[in-house]
Amino acid sequence: MATSVTEFPIECVDLRRVYSSRKLFGRIQSKVAIEGLNLQVPKGIVFGLLGPNGAGKTTVVRILSTLLTPTSGEARILGMDVVKDAHKVRQRIGLVLGGERGLYGRLTGLENLLYFAGLNQLRPSEAKKRANKYLSMLGLSDRADSPVSQYSRGMKQRLHLARGLLTEPSVIFLDEPTIGLDPEAALDFRKMIPELASTGVTILVTTHNMPEAEQICDRVTIINRKLMAMGTPDEIKRSASGVTIMEIGVSAPSESLLDKLTLMDGVLRVEPHRNIEGVDPRIDRLTIHLSKIDNSDENIDEPIMELLSEVATGPPSHRDPTLEECYLAILRRGSKGAAA
Ligand SMILES: Nc1ncnc2c1ncn2[C@@H]1O[C@H](COP(=O)(O)OP(=O)(O)OP(=O)(O)O)[C@@H](O)[C@H]1O
Ligand SMILES: [Mg+2]
Repeated sequence: MATSVTEFPIECVDLRRVYSSRKLFGRIQSKVAIEGLNLQVPKGIVFGLLGPNGAGKTTVVRILSTLLTPTSGEARILGMDVVKDAHKVRQRIGLVLGGERGLYGRLTGLENLLYFAGLNQLRPSEAKKRANKYLSMLGLSDRADSPVSQYSRGMKQRLHLARGLLTEPSVIFLDEPTIGLDPEAALDFRKMIPELASTGVTILVTTHNMPEAEQICDRVTIINRKLMAMGTPDEIKRSASGVTIMEIGVSAPSESLLDKLTLMDGVLRVEPHRNIEGVDPRIDRLTIHLSKIDNSDENIDEPIMELLSEVATGPPSHRDPTLEECYLAILRRGSKGAAA
């Protein structure tokens, strides 16, 4: 057990969660939210859990933070089972769900933190020390004595994080921490996350924001009910998606030409871009997603250029896909697989 404690503070083994709800006429309806999920998160990293709406991200966070029990499978925090050792797990984790819930508007920022410190059985002197430390770390010292109802959304979000840090947890869960923050507040928040991980805290963050994931996460996992891909953002970009991108300038290609292009072997997707400055916006650039299987990006250039010979305005260029493009390709491939 000692090995798993140090190596992987967060672990899931074959995790499955089914929600059951009673519908009209007493019928029970079941929804599989998470299926066969295996995760091993090493210590001191920022681990991103990505996936579309309804993918099961919050379900995983709620199971790992002991708010929800799994239907089957196991989840462990610092080697402790989230069901059998729920009480001990709670003492070692911080959970930041964000939003308006969970803070007391009539109390000041400092009073909120002292209240939560009390719930966590911190001695009053220690509680005060830590509350001031985290208010200062999150740039809230000068508003510590204002009622939280007067805080902006970004300030509330920072107070949520201060609350999550109060018990100095070894593992922190952040469920969509930057949603609703303005770009500057989100930027500040993003800077804090890797700094926190560098102190040895293991952080699991959920987000829909791919540039954010790329910026703050050491590793990411894409889920959609089950695991779709896992690796560092670079690894996912290099190989997991099996996609390379061709960009080519064109002059008003016809619909039928684009249809032919889309149907070519190795072409996964064609995104036409319009010259929005023109009065009659014409398609003037194509982003073509190519499958890397069999090195087809090399072989496919020629037939594509042959097809586009009448409309191409220059030679094609190739680039690696962004994390967002990979994410979309992985999900699309997954849904095709599921449909098959
Ligand atoms: N209490 C519940 N009862 C029934 N179904 C639920 C419940 N909570 C979640 N679900 C369903 O489980 C699935 C996963 O939901 P979950 O909230 O974990 O997704 P998510 O990835 O966090 O989505 P989002 O990006 O929208 O926050 C969804 O289909 C959702 O409708
Ligand atoms: Mg969610």
